[in-house]
Amino acid sequence: MDLTRAELAVLNGEEGEGKQKAMELITALGKIYGAENLIDITSAHLSGASYKTIGDGGLKYLEDMVSGNAKVSVNSTLNPVGMDRTRWKEMHITEEFAEKQNRIIELYGKMGVKTTCSCTPYVGPNVPKFKDHVAWAESSALSFVNSFIGARTNREGGPGALAAAILGKTANYGLHLDENRKPTAVIDADIDGSIFSYSLLGQAVGMAIGSGVPYFRNIRPEVEEAKTLSAAMAASGSVALYHAEGVTPEAKNFDVSDLETIHIGKQELQNAYDKLNKTDDIQLIAIGCPHLTEKEMHQIASFLKGKEKRNKDIEIWFCTSAAIRDKCPDDVRIMERFGPVLADTCMVVAPIEGSFERTGTNSAKAGNYLPTLCSQKAMCRDISALMEMVM
Ligand code: F3S
Repeated sequence: MDLTRAELAVLNGEEGEGKQKAMELITALGKIYGAENLIDITSAHLSGASYKTIGDGGLKYLEDMVSGNAKVSVNSTLNPVGMDRTRWKEMHITEEFAEKQNRIIELYGKMGVKTTCSCTPYVGPNVPKFKDHVAWAESSALSFVNSFIGARTNREGGPGALAAAILGKTANYGLHLDENRKPTAVIDADIDGSIFSYSLLGQAVGMAIGSGVPYFRNIRPEVEEAKTLSAAMAASGSVALYHAEGVTPEAKNFDVSDLETIHIGKQELQNAYDKLNKTDDIQLIAIGCPHLTEKEMHQIASFLKGKEKRNKDIEIWFCTSAAIRDKCPDDVRIMERFGPVLADTCMVVAPIEGSFERTGTNSAKAGNYLPTLCSQKAMCRDISALMEMVM
């Protein structure tokens, strides 16, 4: 790989141990994936923020980075953590977990990361521009910025995104290059356009094409639909980029006439639904994967207005960012008659397995991860169907 004199100096430790470790990791990744050089990035989004997912090993890694004086050099935001920072007791979190989680947040803060703790930073503090090179972890968020905005990132892991944030650079390979952004299959989608239909569509497409680049026909996603679709395909497959005809900024660049067309209609959506639904009996309903936007908060509050929660055996959590929660006090008041509106966290990265065994969600991403990462039997239905279970 061609490194500039300044990059070589970093690699040789001339700018401190934190930067050296970051450069070692980025150049190692670059070699594995055949990058010829490094490129500047404009932002990073970091995962690896929950104590549940990184454990004591991850905490030690962050301690070492901070003692090595590592600091991020571009706008960097943090993914959800394992608890709401102020309301963790409502989530059945232990004191020990809370203490370690708070230390992790503090360490990221010391490195200059904005500890916003949300998986939808693109609606707030971290909005890349078209063609920006960025280094984002969090599979739903990186797919959103790649696809809906046309920024360029690979599917980074937590340490890779942190290393890139420290350097302000990443290795130039994969989705940073034009040739890897071409669609690999056309998806002829026949859905009703509801948010839940985007969850099932994403589930079906991820199952059908794995890590390909789908080119959608017949859908008109806005932010909420695009984030839902991004999350679902990243979890049921490993899709990191898609195009939607007439909607996403790069779709017009491609001639797709020779590509295979995959039809996703009633039968495929039913198969996706069956894959995600493994129980009819739940203890927790968790909404907000990816984190709820302001528009979704309004929609949920209008649906719940004037209704009562009668079933006391099922808990409900709504997950969003602290910024969105603060913006919607009237919606929060209505929603909290049903359950807490939690910020900074989600049903997957919180240690829910200590308190629940069966969870319902409207998100295909959560529907995939609740069984594997949280030992849950999962139910996946639209929000109104879930809410009607407690009324
Ligand atoms: Fe976000 Fe958690 Fe879902 S990080 S995308 S709400 S699994």
